[in-house]
Amino acid sequence: MTLTQLRGRGTEQAAIRRTRRGVVIVGGEPGIGKTALLRAETEHAAADGYAALATARAGDRIAPLSTLGPALRPLLSADAFHALADLQDKPLWLAERLAAVLAAKAPALIAVDEVQWADPLSAYLLRALPARLAGTRVLWLLAAREAPADLEGHRLRLGPLSAEALAEIATDRLGHGPDAALRARLAGTRGLPWLAVRIIDGDTAGLSRDVRRLLAGATPHCRSLVTAAAVLGQPDKAALGQPIKLDDAGLLLGEQPVDLIDALGEAIALGLLTDGDDGAVFRHELLRRAVHDDLTPSVRTALRNGAIDLRAGAELTTMDEELDALLKSEAPRPDHAWGTLTATEQRVATLISDGHTNRSAAAALHLSPSTVSTHLRAVFAKLGINSRVQLTRLAMRRQPT
Ligand SMILES: Nc1ncnc2c1ncn2[C@@H]1O[C@H](COP(=O)(O)OP(=O)(O)OP(=O)(O)O)[C@@H](O)[C@H]1O
Ligand SMILES: [Mg+2]
Repeated sequence: MTLTQLRGRGTEQAAIRRTRRGVVIVGGEPGIGKTALLRAETEHAAADGYAALATARAGDRIAPLSTLGPALRPLLSADAFHALADLQDKPLWLAERLAAVLAAKAPALIAVDEVQWADPLSAYLLRALPARLAGTRVLWLLAAREAPADLEGHRLRLGPLSAEALAEIATDRLGHGPDAALRARLAGTRGLPWLAVRIIDGDTAGLSRDVRRLLAGATPHCRSLVTAAAVLGQPDKAALGQPIKLDDAGLLLGEQPVDLIDALGEAIALGLLTDGDDGAVFRHELLRRAVHDDLTPSVRTALRNGAIDLRAGAELTTMDEELDALLKSEAPRPDHAWGTLTATEQRVATLISDGHTNRSAAAALHLSPSTVSTHLRAVFAKLGINSRVQLTRLAMRRQPT
């Protein structure tokens, strides 16, 4: 069996191998290398006569013991394993039985990845068994982005990989050392191995898939914020490409900035954004591009034009609060409300939803941008909306293409 080439984790591996008994909980942000570390340590332990790796996943919660079962299976005869089924509603006895089995098999290593998804019976055993086996050489190696707070054990948080470790990974994958350009791109990953691997492999499709998967597990607010950030942070000749302010993202999305604070924390925990004094930025331009390129064209255009108007100072602030409250109390249904727009407002609404900026709509209508902005505000108020994206969606609903 070939050992997984793990680079730059010598300290962590030494700490795990020194431990030998008890619980080690490996934590760290997505893609930092928790699974890779567990795999490498399991392979190492197997070569020394230890036990197997079990990976828990969301769906596994469906059946009792589905998390821990696969790890325990190799330690038991078929009969003994099937006999466990009779004990699934007797957790104390089950723990006793398994403790006896494990004690007889020591030294053993039980590795459980994504332990936060463990089914309840396994989660109970992961608490009860280590305590029961305290004096025995059984090592529980658990991993989770955020391990449950009440899980006891030695916490080992994986940090960013060093530049040398990234260069070693590149050499492993390419068969030769990275050139200066690749080294510079790897430095931009700030030590994040999953991103480094995608860059080394030149796998943009894989990178997009990874980002999509990260966002799929995020809250809608976080997804919106990351989307707005991908547009606001687009580098170009205008003033875009700067750190993203929550105020701007709020204006663009029609959200209150305070409502985006948790979303920002979430996007940082996912490793997509980092925060600084000047605002949030994508951790790597490739991440921004992956999010940006994944947007549907109409949403991208609406956000982009909103961003341009924001930067041009023709701010589409959300409505005057009083007006907002007044309109919300008797807001007509948007579909019918379209008819209440004046002829000019309808023209403005159509142009904006077709992807014009305030400026270009103003030029088309021979109006000043600020007049367009005023009309647009009235349109938003009458339609009971507060963002260009909503306007675009509304217009698309009216005229199916
Ligand atoms: N130290 C390392 N040396 C070599 N490759 C690594 C290292 N750490 C991670 N990798 C590679 O980086 C990628 C991401 O790592 P991994 O899947 O282990 O991350 P993770 O922390 O388990 O992420 P998640 O939270 O999404 O489960 C994998 O392709 C893995 O092989
Ligand atoms: Mg993992």
